[in-house]
Amino acid sequence: MSDETRVQELRKLFPVVGHWTYLYNGSIHPCARPVGEAMRAFLEKWQNGGEAAFFPAYEAFGKLKEKFAKLIHASARNIVVTESTTAAINLAAQILRPKPGQNIVVNDLDFMTDTYPWLVCHPCAEVRFVKSRDGKIQIDDLAKQVDGNTAVVSLCAVTVGSGYRFDLRAVHAVTRSSGIPLLVDGSQALGLVKISVNDPPLDFLATTVSKWLMGPAGVGLLYLADRYLDATPPTAGWLSAANVGDWDVRHCRLHDDATRFQGGLPNLVGVIGALAGLELLEEIGPEFIERRVQLLTTYLLDQLEKIGVTIWTPRAASERAGIVFFRPPNPDGLHAELKAARIYCGAFQGGIRLDPTFYNTVEELDKFLAIVRRHVARCAT
Ligand SMILES: Cc1ncc(COP(=O)(O)O)c(C=O)c1O
Repeated sequence: MSDETRVQELRKLFPVVGHWTYLYNGSIHPCARPVGEAMRAFLEKWQNGGEAAFFPAYEAFGKLKEKFAKLIHASARNIVVTESTTAAINLAAQILRPKPGQNIVVNDLDFMTDTYPWLVCHPCAEVRFVKSRDGKIQIDDLAKQVDGNTAVVSLCAVTVGSGYRFDLRAVHAVTRSSGIPLLVDGSQALGLVKISVNDPPLDFLATTVSKWLMGPAGVGLLYLADRYLDATPPTAGWLSAANVGDWDVRHCRLHDDATRFQGGLPNLVGVIGALAGLELLEEIGPEFIERRVQLLTTYLLDQLEKIGVTIWTPRAASERAGIVFFRPPNPDGLHAELKAARIYCGAFQGGIRLDPTFYNTVEELDKFLAIVRRHVARCAT
């Protein structure tokens, strides 16, 4: 089957295409039919069976950890299911617990969730911002901020604005010699870009499932390296305990894996949707997704360049993933025009962001580009 035929088949899984030209998949990914069906089936079982619905759902919780672990070349022992990326990053921060005199290296392309845990909850540590240049972080600039007192280097594998994709091996070359922990927010990368927690070795990998992993909002995932599996959990509850079956309220014997960081019952509807999203991703195949997204983003960048708008996203394919960001004149006006034409994309930081994915087509992009072309010509007169 040709890629074009496959795209037409896959579009049937996404009812959103009947309502919008949806080009904001890195914000909230629209719900695919199998994901919606899985969640609805659980609700039905819960409605009719109460606690009886819990047991298969709890199995989905284990399977979700396994599927995610497979995606990132880890073991399910090292995965915590959280409520969000934010919760995952805060958990990592609480485990690392920087001391006075230490510093945290972040950068100005990070998302707020990547810097606020340090700024707000760990004010004893200095937060050092690496300055971006032309939508990219230069590794030399990052290296200059790192020293013997660095508690962690934290970054987004793919940044949320310009869409810059880090070379994680190059970052690791900076942190390796001093054994500085590396915390990666994979929210804009996983599902699009291959990330193995072994190459380069990562200490923490946090994500939401609600973007390129095609799950619902309200579920996050955290990978922690083996060396943190015996850490004291900053919060504890019945699921943290290996001896939960003893009903021993006086003694908690913590699990010897990442389960010790689970407090209480997770968001089961979300877990079921997250598992269905990962299953769909596996079925479609990351190679197909990567190929389609590269084709669409490259086409967009070529055409936007011809129109003559300022593009923030790096041009080299190895330095970007699913995000294309540009700054047209009067971006809010353009955004309103696009919305009126039922084209969904983002507008922030003085620009427009588009995140096309495998079910989008070149025809959809042409519809978008025609409006941009008209808008830019009008602004020039
Ligand atoms: C890089 C990145 N991290 C995290 C998030 C979302 O975080 P959360 O799952 O805590 O809502 C986003 C959403 O826009 C993001 O782009």
